[in-house]
Amino acid sequence: MSEPELKLLQTLVYRECGMFFDERREHFLRDRLQRRLRACRLESFYSYYRLLTSREGRTELAALLENLTINETSFFRNKPQLDLFHKVTLEELLQRKHSARDWNLRLWSAGCSTGQEPYTMAMLVCDALAYFTLRNAPERDLPFAKPLVPPPWKVEILASDISYSALRTAQEGNYSEQQMEPVDYMYRLRYFDKIGEHYSVKQPVKQVVKFDFHNLKTEYLPQGNDVIFCRNVMIYFDEPEQKRLVEKLYRCVTTGGYLFVGHAETLFGLSDKFRMIHQNNGTAYQRDEVQE
Ligand SMILES: C[S@@+](CC[C@H](N)C(=O)[O-])C[C@H]1O[C@@H](n2cnc3c(N)ncnc32)[C@H](O)[C@@H]1O
Repeated sequence: MSEPELKLLQTLVYRECGMFFDERREHFLRDRLQRRLRACRLESFYSYYRLLTSREGRTELAALLENLTINETSFFRNKPQLDLFHKVTLEELLQRKHSARDWNLRLWSAGCSTGQEPYTMAMLVCDALAYFTLRNAPERDLPFAKPLVPPPWKVEILASDISYSALRTAQEGNYSEQQMEPVDYMYRLRYFDKIGEHYSVKQPVKQVVKFDFHNLKTEYLPQGNDVIFCRNVMIYFDEPEQKRLVEKLYRCVTTGGYLFVGHAETLFGLSDKFRMIHQNNGTAYQRDEVQE
């Protein structure tokens, strides 16, 4: 592959999804492009570029992007941050909403990969709601068989990704013993069914999570979220693209809502529109007022 061909394809990928392949990751890009070229039985990278930029090439473009994503994830990833989410963020949100008689909770896992992150969010939200309801509603008001989301609360967790195959796996919600390793016994019991060798996410949990395709590079992203998890996604973007993404996420989160980014990611230098909360090694960012 010639340097101009590489640059052309690199720029195309960047324009389409924001992923930036610097010298360290160039080798990976070259390797994946070679594979796709072979799969399409094309002779040159330039003809491959022509295919990608043609109307007929939309499916191949999706396949290429799919091949370039890193889908590494796990249940309960970054425990200190999830403790902060569970014990501080959710508690504050539930109190605030309860006082305002607003029973809707909307969360978004942006770049959800194979589902472990949104299902972890669902388990923690359901737990927090059960505990909150126990303290704030008299037992006699509750139906005998306690639903996962106690009424009048309504919870919707949107989980999105650019990879269709990751979304399919996430929707199926079946995980191996090895993938379940970070999930403790109580969570397994409450939220999973053991079927043969694997664990399957229980139907009521699945009903809380909705999967959809969203490319974070685009302008139109889901609005009105109380909490956004966008973890370990922008590490693959360059700084200008990270800034654009954080600005879009700012518009997607409600006033007083929270943004969680990955362990190796920070909003420092990218945005000053959020207030950082750091407790016991966990970090969150709160959008606390309207700014222009
Ligand atoms: C390393 S995984 C992180 C998964 C999960 N958030 C976590 O922290 O465990 C990154 C995910 O971001 C997705 N992704 C990368 N670029 C994206 C884009 N432009 N729009 C949406 N998702 C993207 C990838 O497909 C991948 O599933």
